[in-house]
Amino acid sequence: MTNKVRILWGIIGLFAATLVSAKASVNTPTQVLFTEQAASADYLLLGVSANGETGAVGLAINQNSAQGLSYLIEASGFTGKAMSTKLIPAPQNSGFKQILLVGLGEPSQNSEVEWQEIGGNAIQKAISEFKTVPTFAAELSPDHAAQLAFGAKLGSYYFDKYKTDSEQQKLVASITFAVPSPAATKALFNKDWNSVANAIWHTRNISNEPANVIYPESFVTYWKQQLKGLKNVSIRVFDEDDMLDKNMGAIYGVGRGSARPPRMMIVEYMGANKKQAPVVLVGKGITFDTGGISLKNPPNMWNMKFDMSGAASVVGTLYALADRKAKVNVVAIAALAENMPGANAQRPGDVVTSMSGKTIQIRSTDAEGRLVLADGIYYGDITYNPSLLVDVATLTGSASRALGKDYAALFTRHNELAQKFIEVGIKTGDQVWQLPLNDNHFKAIKNDVADIMNSGPTAPGASAGAAFVGSFVREQTPWVHLDIAGVAWNDKATPIKASPGSTSFGIRLLNGYIKRYFEQ
Ligand code: BES
Ligand code: MN
Ligand code: ZN
Repeated sequence: MTNKVRILWGIIGLFAATLVSAKASVNTPTQVLFTEQAASADYLLLGVSANGETGAVGLAINQNSAQGLSYLIEASGFTGKAMSTKLIPAPQNSGFKQILLVGLGEPSQNSEVEWQEIGGNAIQKAISEFKTVPTFAAELSPDHAAQLAFGAKLGSYYFDKYKTDSEQQKLVASITFAVPSPAATKALFNKDWNSVANAIWHTRNISNEPANVIYPESFVTYWKQQLKGLKNVSIRVFDEDDMLDKNMGAIYGVGRGSARPPRMMIVEYMGANKKQAPVVLVGKGITFDTGGISLKNPPNMWNMKFDMSGAASVVGTLYALADRKAKVNVVAIAALAENMPGANAQRPGDVVTSMSGKTIQIRSTDAEGRLVLADGIYYGDITYNPSLLVDVATLTGSASRALGKDYAALFTRHNELAQKFIEVGIKTGDQVWQLPLNDNHFKAIKNDVADIMNSGPTAPGASAGAAFVGSFVREQTPWVHLDIAGVAWNDKATPIKASPGSTSFGIRLLNGYIKRYFEQ
């Protein structure tokens, strides 16, 4: 090789390396576009309803092919059932080579969640069949098409930014829908759905990032970046000195064992009259949970990078509301720490004083989520006098064992709130189930050295956790505790989430709840 050639190769190599690293460093949301016609291409996604209708795009193909399309659909045995798909060859002269039929069921019967799942499922099938997403033609009302597109966007999420082999990267840049009223569909999609989809995207991204990338300070940096430019948003961050000043001994104690200092991030979004009491959302933000001195079993430890999912979901919810300019006041508080067994770590038996003044005996350093929440939730309650206070936390294995992947556990002292949350959960797809919170659970965490202890060995784990968190909320405050330990992470793909990993549970629920009960 001559020197010149070597230099040339060097330059090409450098260029390739930048390309790879550029690809590996971003995971931007899929763009959703709407048009009326499906331009001819190799492939097409075509919605077919249960009565066999394929809409204007299908009709045109059928005409150009001497009824070839209806023949092929019928011959393939495709019924249009919701969630079914079928790949057929495209008729001659149709302008396409292959068509992926997508069952739309009975369009008037599908729920919001069903539309989302049909959309997500279709996109994932397209990516595995074609490695790309062709135009998706579906003769749907703007309302239905927007919900389908929302699911399609969520379903196209892949966390593959760390794969250096681009063959293995499945993320697509955009999805185009051919619908009868593209302008109206686009307007509706942008008004109601796209902000929520982007919020979910950013939340999945940060929750999936490993703990060597996301720690308390970088969590703050990440969200500051995402929230930049959104109107009526202000951000405050407490560091360890602020925590000591405010007597936040509970969160401070959890952070002590780590070289990565704890933070409390407070994001305000004032989209309504300033006098209106805000909804306050508080999230558990343990960027990694080793268990601390009460060390966890290593084989099950690796995914404890997701132990900040509650914090990510509350900031994500605020992002969605601010981005779609909702007329509400909302505060998101992320209580951030890394739970490590360092030389300065707190020990079982230690006593800490929380901001509320209540003293806490540490029984297990692995019951750390409730400690960071104690200070976050107390601060939120007394600072803002919230009209509703919700905390979201991957708090207990016990909630996960009780309800599995189907429901987050909901606890409240205000029972009328439970039913409302259950209904919004069914509508939005983030489902919740109420578990008990009674006086016995509060008694079980009384302690003979301090006021309270961080685990109640004689009470059911999830209820003891809820009672602990509830001990830092004034009784009159309408408060709901969501234990998302079971639902925040999925090992398998679902229609609206292709990658295993973070689900960003809570954003659809809280966005839907606030929309129904607080937006003017
Ligand atoms: N982050 C865990 C809860 C968790 C466990 C979430 C498994 C997802 C999957 C939490 O900090 C924890 O360790 N909880 C303990 C509490 C116990 C020590 C009182 C638990 O549930 O075992
Ligand atoms: Mn723990
Ligand atoms: Zn934890």
